[in-house]
Amino acid sequence: MTSPFQKAVESAFKVFSRRNGASVTSDSLSELRTNLNKVTKDELRIDPHVLEDKIPKEHEAPVTYIRILEDKLMTIAVFVLRQGKSLPLHDHPGMFGLLKVIHGSVTIKTYTPLDPNKYPVPATLSETLADKYGRNIPVYPSWYEGDKVCTETDDCCVISPNNKNVHEIISESGTAAFLDVLSPPYNHKSMEDCRPCSYYKEISIDSKEPNIRYLVKIKSPPEYWCDEVDYYGPQLPLPS
Ligand SMILES: [Fe+2]
Repeated sequence: MTSPFQKAVESAFKVFSRRNGASVTSDSLSELRTNLNKVTKDELRIDPHVLEDKIPKEHEAPVTYIRILEDKLMTIAVFVLRQGKSLPLHDHPGMFGLLKVIHGSVTIKTYTPLDPNKYPVPATLSETLADKYGRNIPVYPSWYEGDKVCTETDDCCVISPNNKNVHEIISESGTAAFLDVLSPPYNHKSMEDCRPCSYYKEISIDSKEPNIRYLVKIKSPPEYWCDEVDYYGPQLPLPS
């Protein structure tokens, strides 16, 4: 019998493999979302020890990565976040993503990048940054979509290339875990098909429109790193 996770993976292969022929829309993602919403940590057979509430010691990873699928079409993985830890603010260039919480709760802080031609960066901000760093610093105007708490009873969150593409995921009240489906995957290597993951921080500035925020790229924060445990859940269906 096909389990909800296996059905979700089948839906993902179906919708993302036709991407070049037909654009992915929220309608075309509905089957994948429905199946993903039924996936549980029990089905994925995640070791309960990995999900125990504990504050990591200095030498312990703040985040555990469970690799499920990494291929040219998509990546599927589980991230386990320890209490008070986060996936720093990051983007998903040209990518779709579906995030389903399967344990605990996370707060997701989300931004949608804005067109800098329509939302120019205030000159004072650019000048202040140039003075501080001794060179021009690119600034990315973004629409702050708000903070949303997601638990394992909530439906999955969806991001797309042009909507809610930048987010930070924080576990505030104990260990939390979520299943992440990304397509196409990040790609740091290929020149033609390059999708590196960039990290950001928000620059505080008084603004007439409080939801317009300004982001700058930063190095991967050193406090963020992952250890890895194996996946023991259902076998993945092969692409049709
Ligand atoms: Fe993400």
